[in-house]
Amino acid sequence: MFVPAKNQQQQESLPLNCSFERSDWEILASFWHPVANSDEVTDAPVRVHLLDMPVVLFRTPDGIKAAKDVCMHRGGQLSLGSVCNGILVCGFHGFEYNGEGTCVGIPALAKGSPIPKKLRLKNFQCRERYGLVWVCLADQARAEMPEWPQIEDGSGKVIPVPSYEIRASAGRRVENFNDIAHVPFLHRDSFGGPPTDIAPYEVVSGDNTLAFKVDILEQTRYSGEYGGKPAYHSSVYSYELTLPFASSAKISNPESGDVYRVYDIVSPVSSDRSRVFQIVVDESFKMTPEAVRAFNDVVNKEDSPQVEAQSPFDLPLDLRDEIHIPADRMSVEYRRKLAALGLGAEAYR
Ligand SMILES: [Fe+2]
Repeated sequence: MFVPAKNQQQQESLPLNCSFERSDWEILASFWHPVANSDEVTDAPVRVHLLDMPVVLFRTPDGIKAAKDVCMHRGGQLSLGSVCNGILVCGFHGFEYNGEGTCVGIPALAKGSPIPKKLRLKNFQCRERYGLVWVCLADQARAEMPEWPQIEDGSGKVIPVPSYEIRASAGRRVENFNDIAHVPFLHRDSFGGPPTDIAPYEVVSGDNTLAFKVDILEQTRYSGEYGGKPAYHSSVYSYELTLPFASSAKISNPESGDVYRVYDIVSPVSSDRSRVFQIVVDESFKMTPEAVRAFNDVVNKEDSPQVEAQSPFDLPLDLRDEIHIPADRMSVEYRRKLAALGLGAEAYR
């Protein structure tokens, strides 16, 4: 089958087979999202997906660059090529692109012949921060990426956790991270406290953030495993969420003074698939990276089956679509905040 002469792939800002409503895609594309760990991008191009967009990452002397993973010459996949001295080389016909996306070499072209000006990569904004590669698909980001000083100021031991994929929408997964009431149930074998009522709490709304704090009884890690009698201790959980999908939780033990922070950023690969990036900062300097990673793995595996099974898979932004209890204060405010960005407008029209 032939496609129209005006190749849609080259004209259209949306990815082919986009699984989002157009307006949702355009809003989400204007935020920064992590797509890889910095150390994943070495001397070869790396293919990732963000909001259904295939993106190639490649390292240059000026840092990591991001572009649409499609060669404008014949629609080849650039990430199947190579990187040579900061130049991305398409593996199909050897076309060479620099970090700005300009084609700087075509082996089959006679020496001295001009390179077609239209032959440019579709570059995206790309930054490295917190050990992650962040991409914004829009020309102009509508908000800065989250500010998390404790990852950068040496106040704790920074422990990156391997990213993992979940077959769930970013919104459902973010809500799960910020949901207190599920902890005694899904996490009864790891850190969940006894099932109990949750005292009303306030959610503080900023321009681009939501924050709340709760006192909870937390299980001393794994003490209830294998049917043992769990031990509990008091903890203060302080959450802050930066729209749309970046959360942090500060977990303080008032008795020992230990502070432990979890950063949890959900990257929307597609409308029903996400990649979760986590960083832990242990201000007590007591934990080993192995123990932290093993614990996060257990907790994430406790959450994933339920989050992947939620129906509908996307977060309903019309509050009438699901039933809320006072413990869901944060979920309710989160849904309101996403709706205020304009998300869900087409779904609820
Ligand atoms: Fe959970």
